[in-house]
Amino acid sequence: MNISRDNLRTAAYVFWPLLILGGLVVLRFTWAGANTGEGAALYQARCANCHGPKGEGFKQLYPAITVSPIISGDPAQLACMIQNGVAGTPQANGILSLPMPGQPDLKVHEVTAIVNFLRASWGRSLPPVTAKVVEQGLKSCGDKK
Ligand code: HEC
Repeated sequence: MNISRDNLRTAAYVFWPLLILGGLVVLRFTWAGANTGEGAALYQARCANCHGPKGEGFKQLYPAITVSPIISGDPAQLACMIQNGVAGTPQANGILSLPMPGQPDLKVHEVTAIVNFLRASWGRSLPPVTAKVVEQGLKSCGDKK
């Protein structure tokens, strides 16, 4: 094969833009992962079974959480709920009330990702909270009950 100087120059013109573009694509996905991507995936894996892929809930069994004031409220309380679960709330008229199981295997950064996913979903655009806030919240779960 005959590689001329021109061919090399052309190759360089193609190579560098591609490399930069590739870098931007990688950065884009890393960034998304840090914000909503991981939280969205965790929600689907850990919560959607009960609350539905769009937070719509399931009949009388699992509440819809699209409009839950808990999500818009204290992020520490939400983090504690996610990690420790909720005892079923007694309801009138014998309506079935199930507890929500805790998920203590979730790491702080995972709980943070879920909290931030919820804060930015279904019409909400609340600012994200840091892992530090969630970590401190999780340490004081018992105090809040
Ligand atoms: C096994 C089913 C199940 C799973 C999995 C589950 N939940 Fe729940 N969740 C419930 C039930 C049942 C309740 C109602 C508890 C009660 O108050 O009696 C509830 C309540 C809630 C509430 C409060 C709703 C309100 O306004 O009262 C939020 C918020 C919530 N869940 C978020 C989550 C998130 C986030 C996840 C995933 C990390 C999750 N849940 C996983 C069953 C589940």
